[in-house]
Amino acid sequence: MTLNSPEQLQIFLDVATEAALAAGVILQDNYLKLEQIEEKGRPGDLVTEADKQAEAAILKVLNRHVPHHQILAEESGTLGQADSEYLWAIDPLDGTTNYAHGYPMSAVSVGLSIQGSPQVGVVYNPFRDELFRAAKGLGATCNRRPIRVSQTQELGKSLLVTGFAYDRRETTDNNYAEFCYLTHLTQGVRRSGSASLDLTDVACGRLDGYWERGLKPWDVVAGIVLLEEAGGKVTAYDGSPIEINSGRILATNGEIHPYLSKALGETPALSEWKSTNP
Ligand code: IPD
Ligand code: CA
Ligand code: CA
Repeated sequence: MTLNSPEQLQIFLDVATEAALAAGVILQDNYLKLEQIEEKGRPGDLVTEADKQAEAAILKVLNRHVPHHQILAEESGTLGQADSEYLWAIDPLDGTTNYAHGYPMSAVSVGLSIQGSPQVGVVYNPFRDELFRAAKGLGATCNRRPIRVSQTQELGKSLLVTGFAYDRRETTDNNYAEFCYLTHLTQGVRRSGSASLDLTDVACGRLDGYWERGLKPWDVVAGIVLLEEAGGKVTAYDGSPIEINSGRILATNGEIHPYLSKALGETPALSEWKSTNP
């Protein structure tokens, strides 16, 4: 089997699924047990006991099945063989702020890049019992049913989602201007607090597009595979190929991609907002 033959990808997809489901049980078991919440550094960047336990459960599964692969896990950092062609990007709890407030909008995200290219993705939302699975060339499903992006063709008829990174108070490049501008141009912009669920919501056609800055590979690797396999498009803001470590992502149903890219490129500064007449 080659590095990414369909048979091999199917095996990795099953490993990712086992890991995500194991973590999901822990998130459910710990839900609303909110006594152990810490701040990691920046104000509002939280970590709970559930993040740590869920990550340990994922690592256990990966260590059993793929002990020679490299892992990038949010709470543990980089683990495993540095020269491996395989890199697992793990977010044990994507949507920690939601979780810590008892707002049930969080997921486990388990993605695999092979030779730098996202190839396998599983996102599990234990609160809706929705299991999103995809592998390159094998399609994307939610609870085993194929999913597909929306067919919305106009920005003015689209419903979007975005997010705001934890460094938003330290930079003027904080997405506030883009949020206002796109709210003005579309039927609405949501903010869910879980990047992986933003990507799966676009993948299954509930939303038409998503953009965000300040993301980490563990937020997006799984979701990128899911969205692309569901017929969507993922790039940098300007439409050029996505660079996972840049933190920026533009992800859509494909139809509205050039329009959203253009709007992001010409977003007026907040100080100019009153004179804006799009
Ligand atoms: C966060 C969520 C959120 C996004 C932040 C991420 P976390 O991940 O995905 O939607 O806006 O930038 O850091 O901290 O809940 O795993
Ligand atoms: Ca995250
Ligand atoms: Ca997280």
